Amino acid sequence: MKKFTSVKDIDSVDQWVKKALEIKSDPYKNNALGRNKVLGLLFFNPSLRTRMSMQKAAYNLGMQVMVINLTKDSWQLEMEDGTVMNAGSQEHIREAAAVVSQYCDIIGLRTFPTLTDREADYADDILHKFIRFSSVPFISLESAILHPLQSYADAMTIAEHQQKPKPKVVLSWAPHPRALPQAVANSFVEWMQATEVELVVTHPTGFELAPEIIKGSTVCYDQQAAFEGADFVYAKNWSSYNDYGKIGKSLDHWMIDQAKMALTDQAKFMHCLPVRRNVVVADEVIDADYSLVIEQANNRTYAAQAVLTKMLSHEV
Ligand code: CP
Repeated sequence: MKKFTSVKDIDSVDQWVKKALEIKSDPYKNNALGRNKVLGLLFFNPSLRTRMSMQKAAYNLGMQVMVINLTKDSWQLEMEDGTVMNAGSQEHIREAAAVVSQYCDIIGLRTFPTLTDREADYADDILHKFIRFSSVPFISLESAILHPLQSYADAMTIAEHQQKPKPKVVLSWAPHPRALPQAVANSFVEWMQATEVELVVTHPTGFELAPEIIKGSTVCYDQQAAFEGADFVYAKNWSSYNDYGKIGKSLDHWMIDQAKMALTDQAKFMHCLPVRRNVVVADEVIDADYSLVIEQANNRTYAAQAVLTKMLSHEV
């Protein structure tokens, strides 16, 4: 496997979930697979889960890990070709990606959208350029528009907890004071579309996801109606795609609370974290025994380990 950047890079969500669950049941089985191999983790923005779960996954496979925060610890990168680099940027992405490939056997990169230029963000330019100019397998640690490792762990978590062959999974928009990417929501929709669930996306008017993401999935503008009969409620804020990067006003009533969860079929609550308590979700929900947020974070390790295992084994 040469790259893991979206659900389109894998053959079957169900088979990949099975693989990650096998790894979870015996995480040190292949603890020499990554001996003398180095994983490089490059971040353009902060991370707790992605950074630490990737490191843990690599250690479980016997790999060494190098981590760098590109906005603080390295030279400012130039992304455009042909630029006369006599201003802020000091190193071109062409050299940077090629150089990192000399030190690392697998590279993971996290980028972040501008949330001002939709065309540029949805081209996922930095990710594609890094892949183009590097020479080793590549893992997206979240791009401007997708977060596949999160969705992989989420699909695992749903598989572990589902009580029905085709559970109802509701992705619910929730309030947030700052503009956030659509990446987690986009990826979650793509991964759920590729497995056996009844997916319903609920959000206020103006928060429609990109048409190429939502495709034929059900959208319900009535949050309470969407929650009826749900087996899983996945809360996430995202800024507007149509009025690009804008946040909602007077939408605090979209917060997930116990009264809304009571409409479901004893649904499990999910969120990728980090989460703003009592803005996105009430304490009474995130602290309830039906909250899976810590299990989702735990499963990030095994999702990451499955991807690393495929790459180290030269599978797919
Ligand atoms: N869910 C997630 O990706 O968390 P971090 O931003 O902390 O990595």
